Amino acid sequence: MMINSEAYHLKYHISPPYGLLNDPNGLAFFRGQYHVFHQWNPGGTEHRNKCWAHVVSDDLVHWRRKGIALEPSEWYDKDGIYSGGSVVHEDQLYLFYTGNVIREDGVKESYQCAAISEDGESFRKLGPLFPHPPGYTRHVRDPKVWRDDSGSWWLIVGAQREDMTGDALVYKSEDLLAWTCQGSFLEHDHSFGYMWECPDVLSFTEQDVFVFSPQGLPEKGECFRNPNQSGYINGKISETGNFNGSIADFKELDRGFDFYAPQSFKVRDRLIMFGWMSAMNEDAERAVPTVREGWLHALTLPREIVLRNGRLYQMPLPELQSLRQQGEQAEVQEHGSWQLPSLQAEVIISFSKLKESFRTVIRESVEIDYDYEENSLTVWRTSWLTGEREYRKAELHHRPVELQLFIESSSLEIFVNQGEEVFSLRYFLEDTEQRGIRLEAGDNKGRISIYPLRESVE
Ligand code: FRU
Repeated sequence: MMINSEAYHLKYHISPPYGLLNDPNGLAFFRGQYHVFHQWNPGGTEHRNKCWAHVVSDDLVHWRRKGIALEPSEWYDKDGIYSGGSVVHEDQLYLFYTGNVIREDGVKESYQCAAISEDGESFRKLGPLFPHPPGYTRHVRDPKVWRDDSGSWWLIVGAQREDMTGDALVYKSEDLLAWTCQGSFLEHDHSFGYMWECPDVLSFTEQDVFVFSPQGLPEKGECFRNPNQSGYINGKISETGNFNGSIADFKELDRGFDFYAPQSFKVRDRLIMFGWMSAMNEDAERAVPTVREGWLHALTLPREIVLRNGRLYQMPLPELQSLRQQGEQAEVQEHGSWQLPSLQAEVIISFSKLKESFRTVIRESVEIDYDYEENSLTVWRTSWLTGEREYRKAELHHRPVELQLFIESSSLEIFVNQGEEVFSLRYFLEDTEQRGIRLEAGDNKGRISIYPLRESVE
């Protein structure tokens, strides 16, 4: 089968024009525009020479690439501008990142740094903010900053203790520049993986949520089956910056194959999150067909985050509906099949009466199986590395009344029941023209809607 450079291209997700993309960084709403930065190696599809790429939008749907915002240039960031967040203060955009340094003797170091912008176009580096904390290996990174109601600033970084366990450290500041270490974020001692990456703190009226990406968790049933996980625990932050949540309650954010290193930002009263699609093991990463085309990976769609009964619900932004073109609707049948009008499509399957298992197959490749007895959803794809079928499975909390599928030529995000669970994944077909979609609905009653979507990333 012929593979052309259009075959796997993503048209409404943020992906790099060339080179390798990873984590979302520095998400902000500044001077009337949405700013997304992301980890980018513009020089190749390997994990090195990381810069912050910059992408902007007026509406969170249409994105314009602006090139590099921050690149290695100083002694404290000469080998990589690693992940971090941003805040807007006094009409200036502050970026916080980790400077990655490999010394001449081969020893690696990391520095937590800031940069500032008056116009959202050019960024001035301010240098390292505080010394490396004693008792921690060089794996300290990914600063995320927020402000509390009293006006104090807080910064959280992912870390690895010298005993090789993961941790997160908090710092406090009154001016965003002078920071004092407040110690470990979690009140209770813990041992959970060997490193915590990309910590984030979400604040709701009733409670706070700590989101992080621990590395090295052993598989547990159907959980923690990806190389590294991203998830959250609930709790409350004290005045001294300690969080009283328990690691035992850790829940994965996304139940698919490809979701990692998410970051959130608040715009007015909305909490919006992007993730990286995705971290994978090295062999799988080298085998991704787009490597031949000189680009690798993408961000997920932006998701709106809501806390409901202690769980984070993740919904595709309603703004994305503006991408829909004239759609097609039908009643579900025992066996139904359609042709996707385009490889950029949104498919909504909603059930009015659900009394048995069902299955849907996308492009004769990705299969979504609902098991009525277990109330579980299993998603199958073919590994592009081994050619074998592989799956991820999650038990649902409610019967599925709605599946909302965002399909691209090589990615799929499945939102179940308005974000009760999400499964994100990449997939690569040899038969790139295959556009079939099948629904074996049995006796269930409902409707299917299929919309072609417009392109929205320049
Ligand atoms: C997570 C991560 C971060 C780091 C960045 C480097 O994917 O490893 O911890 O800052 O990627 O690109």
